[in-house]
Amino acid sequence: MKALTLKVLYENSDPNIPSRKQAKYLAIADALRKAIKEGQVAPTEALPSARKLAQQLLVNRHTIMAALAELVAQGWVEAKERSGYRVVVNLPIQGSRAINKMAQTQQSFDWKFRVKQSCAVTPKVKASQYPYNFSGGQPDIRQFPFDEFKSHFSQTCQRPKIDDLSYGDSRGEAELIEEIATYLRRVRSITDKKLMICNGSQEALYMISQLLLQPGDKVAVEQLGYPPAWAAFERTGATLIAVKQDERGIDPEHLAQVFAQGKVKLLYLTPLHQYPTTVSLDISRRMQIYQLAVQYGVAIVEDDYDHEFHYDSQPIAPMAADDPSGLVIYISTFSKLMFAGARIGYVVANNVLIEQLAAYKILMNHKCNVLVQQSVAKWMQQGGFEGHLRRMTRLYQKRRDFMVEKLRSFQDQGLPLQFEVPAGGMAIWLDTGKSIVGLKEKLLANQVYLQTEVEFNRFKDLPDDLPSNVPSNLPKKEFRFIRLGFAAMNEAEVTQGLAIVMNTLYGLDC
Ligand SMILES: Cc1ncc(COP(=O)(O)O)c(C=O)c1O
Repeated sequence: MKALTLKVLYENSDPNIPSRKQAKYLAIADALRKAIKEGQVAPTEALPSARKLAQQLLVNRHTIMAALAELVAQGWVEAKERSGYRVVVNLPIQGSRAINKMAQTQQSFDWKFRVKQSCAVTPKVKASQYPYNFSGGQPDIRQFPFDEFKSHFSQTCQRPKIDDLSYGDSRGEAELIEEIATYLRRVRSITDKKLMICNGSQEALYMISQLLLQPGDKVAVEQLGYPPAWAAFERTGATLIAVKQDERGIDPEHLAQVFAQGKVKLLYLTPLHQYPTTVSLDISRRMQIYQLAVQYGVAIVEDDYDHEFHYDSQPIAPMAADDPSGLVIYISTFSKLMFAGARIGYVVANNVLIEQLAAYKILMNHKCNVLVQQSVAKWMQQGGFEGHLRRMTRLYQKRRDFMVEKLRSFQDQGLPLQFEVPAGGMAIWLDTGKSIVGLKEKLLANQVYLQTEVEFNRFKDLPDDLPSNVPSNLPKKEFRFIRLGFAAMNEAEVTQGLAIVMNTLYGLDC
């Protein structure tokens, strides 16, 4: 074995461990193992004596003995009486050298060929990196009462419930289930259903899809909608069918036609604040839709993702609150009233489905984070949650009014903007009066993040500026809308961000 190579291997032994925090003997064992793998010592060949190695590496002989003992324990070398240490006979060194050589000369494995189907949702940009973040569902996380929450978290850790910290009920922590169920009874009139905690409502969407859908099924969705939900449905091989919508929300007549064509298994709806347009679906349309769902045996997934924030009146009760046939699967989330990183969502449905979901969750990840659930439950029990909600509702209402005022002042300056003041939610759906194709990219370059109509509509209502190879008889539609989140930024930030948007869109110098 070449003394120099071993020394180099030892000195470079783990670049992640500066000044060798790893014990010396382990670093030496590592270097020897590498030398053996590289074929510098052949099987059965004797290693240099411990004394020689100690001289080469300028370490104590006991350190070398410890390294050799480690290699014996790992099965790389064996100790032979009176003749020192030898590399064991049956190491597949030739094979591993051949593989190393191949890896150097050939292209590395392209792992994609093993993926059955690539994922439809890959975040392209991180909205929170932008100083002006108009992301529609983004709360102002800076307002979250971290100190208050910290005290609940530390209480949870001071008196841990040891039993709960192991595997167990995959539906979630009993006290959090109880708190959310009580809350939903009070604010959303939901009773007589079972509740399960999920790792965000996206997990609920995914599990529901996996359990209820199969290739060939259809899922009816609003024409403008929430792409992560669509991706979960499509992952099962189901086909999405877009249902037309107007300024009052989804069109029940078109829905009836879609249902009549057969094979629709699920209807995904955002009735309170339609995503992304924020319109509330009125009672008469809800009743028509419910009757159609009963008639055709279609389950409804009702995504009530930001019901907390409704400003001008009490929000309409969800469809799940009046569900005599038990076909509504209700989902919601803490991502808006806490933050998305908390990963707390929930699903409320009939007992049979919840049991199936609970069984499926065991396959995926057993259960959600227990400490976080218990801390959130304490936060709710002791009133902090309600207080935060009240504060945020007041703040977001003020921010909505501020953005409305700003947009009206742009209208007064002659900009062709049109919008309805949303009764709730966290965003304004704004008709810019001109094509927004290419707007997003320009704004990103100017430190502004927002989402445009193109991102919520993939149902072939095509923009005007089509590439030349697209047949000209396809329906054309100019994408003109943008979604402006008003919750996450303060007034100064909104003012500056809107100035950039209006300047980019209309060349307005404000
Ligand atoms: C329509 C809709 N559904 C659900 C969610 C929440 O997802 P999660 O609970 O997985 O964070 C969001 C968040 O942006 C949303 O906009």
